[in-house]
Amino acid sequence: MAVTRAAGGGAVPEVSNLPPEEIIFGQSAAMQPLRQLISKILGADLPVLIDGENGTGKGLLAQYIHSRSAFSSGSFIKINCAAIPGTLLESELFGHEKGAFTGAATSKVGGVEMAERGTLFLDEIADLDLSLQAKILQLLQDGQFRRMGDTTERRANTRVICATSRKLEGEIESGRFRQDLFYRINVITVRLPALRERPEDVAPLAEYFLGRVNARFERHAPPLPKEVLETLAHKEWRGNIRELENLVARYAIMGSLDAVKAETNLKRFSGKLSPDGTVPFKHIAKQAIREMESNVILKVLRDNKWNRRRAAEVLNISYRALIYKIQEAGLSQRNSRKAIRDATGPSQDAATPPE
Ligand SMILES: Nc1ncnc2c1ncn2[C@@H]1O[C@H](COP(=O)(O)OP(=O)(O)OP(=O)(O)O)[C@@H](O)[C@H]1O
Ligand SMILES: [Mg+2]
Repeated sequence: MAVTRAAGGGAVPEVSNLPPEEIIFGQSAAMQPLRQLISKILGADLPVLIDGENGTGKGLLAQYIHSRSAFSSGSFIKINCAAIPGTLLESELFGHEKGAFTGAATSKVGGVEMAERGTLFLDEIADLDLSLQAKILQLLQDGQFRRMGDTTERRANTRVICATSRKLEGEIESGRFRQDLFYRINVITVRLPALRERPEDVAPLAEYFLGRVNARFERHAPPLPKEVLETLAHKEWRGNIRELENLVARYAIMGSLDAVKAETNLKRFSGKLSPDGTVPFKHIAKQAIREMESNVILKVLRDNKWNRRRAAEVLNISYRALIYKIQEAGLSQRNSRKAIRDATGPSQDAATPPE
């Protein structure tokens, strides 16, 4: 059985419920080298460093590696180095003896011991402070550690997987991360691509999440329409797979596409998103004006049977300015036909003469 240890809490038994491999690795070109790399390292007892943006699946991949490794009969112990403050983190990692620090009323076994013959997953390793980095280094070098407040040197036999969403090279340069520890933990580095780098995997992931949420909450939300899936495939996905999972869950629970539509409307502004994910008002206004302008031009062109000289006169702009605007808006008689058909039905379009 896998055991996940959450921040500050006790060990929480967790029945490992990993998605199927086709979902974990997908079909995209970006994931295939990674799939091959993982298949090679499953059998080897080497430290693995998983590097990826938030929500790309670092935790899930660590569980997958554990479940297929020679350490799978032991526990999978996750410790989030970012979420637990100093002394408590040391105790979570190495355990403590009674009286080791104020409030240590009983002795406690740490994650390293719990992961004996299993996997110790150190999440957000960049947040480990320098004194604990030294202790992890010793664990990796000699397999030795001490509980807090104990003089006995203990030995551990555990596989260590680390994950980071920050570049460790930068942390080393600024003196916050030990270079020698870096070399120890990144014997194998697995870089998980962002979801935007694997657009082909978005639809299968969305379908998988929908099936899971429907089953879990006894919902019957229908499959997402194809055009919605296509739009989602090219969304920015700053929160990566977690963001997609949450979006699909909202869709299934609310029973409407509104949440999805609200998010996908942001797509056309995605290139203009500021670092915190907000949409600057100036860009929205510009975009709205451009859209209104192109609608008016399209209507005048159509009213004048795509005679551009006449349309320019009606619009009171020069012929050259009109041509420029037509190109800028990507208008052509062909795609305008489709837009008109979508808006008014097929019959009106029949009257539009060829360009
Ligand atoms: N390949 C995948 N297939 C299916 N579900 C996935 C996949 N990768 C991630 N998920 C799901 O997406 C969510 C985020 O994954 P996970 O927590 O592993 O990401 P993370 O990179 O560890 O994120 P963080 O940096 O925020 O800790 C989880 O609910 C996980 O189950
Ligand atoms: Mg994680």
